[in-house]
Amino acid sequence: MNQIDKNPNYKEIYNFVRSSFEATEHFYHGPFDETYYSLRVYESSKEIISKLDQKVSVPVVLVASILHDIGKTKINPCNVFSLTGKNENAAEEWDKHPKLGVPIAQEYLRKAGYSSEFISQVSYLIENHDLRGDTIKNKSLELQILQDADLIADCGFAGFIRPFLYGGKFSRQIIGSIKYMQKEANRAGQEDLLNLDVSKVIAKRKFKLEQKLIQEISKDINSDLL
Ligand SMILES: [Fe+2]
Repeated sequence: MNQIDKNPNYKEIYNFVRSSFEATEHFYHGPFDETYYSLRVYESSKEIISKLDQKVSVPVVLVASILHDIGKTKINPCNVFSLTGKNENAAEEWDKHPKLGVPIAQEYLRKAGYSSEFISQVSYLIENHDLRGDTIKNKSLELQILQDADLIADCGFAGFIRPFLYGGKFSRQIIGSIKYMQKEANRAGQEDLLNLDVSKVIAKRKFKLEQKLIQEISKDINSDLL
């Protein structure tokens, strides 16, 4: 194990991720802004870890959290995005991003001096981060944390702003975004996708906040004009 394995330079890794996304057409702003969502996954992993009383390879989880979606820089945007939203076959292209991210992360971490053992642990997390539920057997605790952090990162304030950002990108009006959120307000079902009990507690708190925000903004369009 190298010294850097125990004490990664998270900021440097994040700067690499951020500049990689800034060079893309769709992942540096708007509803798929990975300069924000990657940061949120990293912070959500830290929150989960702080509430766990099991031994965790913290540097492996946090490095993977920052790098987990880097493969999105390699997916073909024409197969995913149209002018009005996502393409019909978007999921097929989108699903490639975990695998596409592995060689990018490996090259970065190798050059930065991380050990091959550390790199293979991070690679396992990146490659499998989208395989939810029972699709993958014997998930390591570290993978469970990353998967949960990935979902939690999109709840609360993040979940509240995304529909507006989506609306701005794909020509939807603000009133339309609010109505969409009213319909989708109860996302608590997503809790079933979470691996860890501590994550369920965090998610519940964030869903509550999100619902409160939706209730508040709903008052703004409670008008006889509509
Ligand atoms: Fe992902």
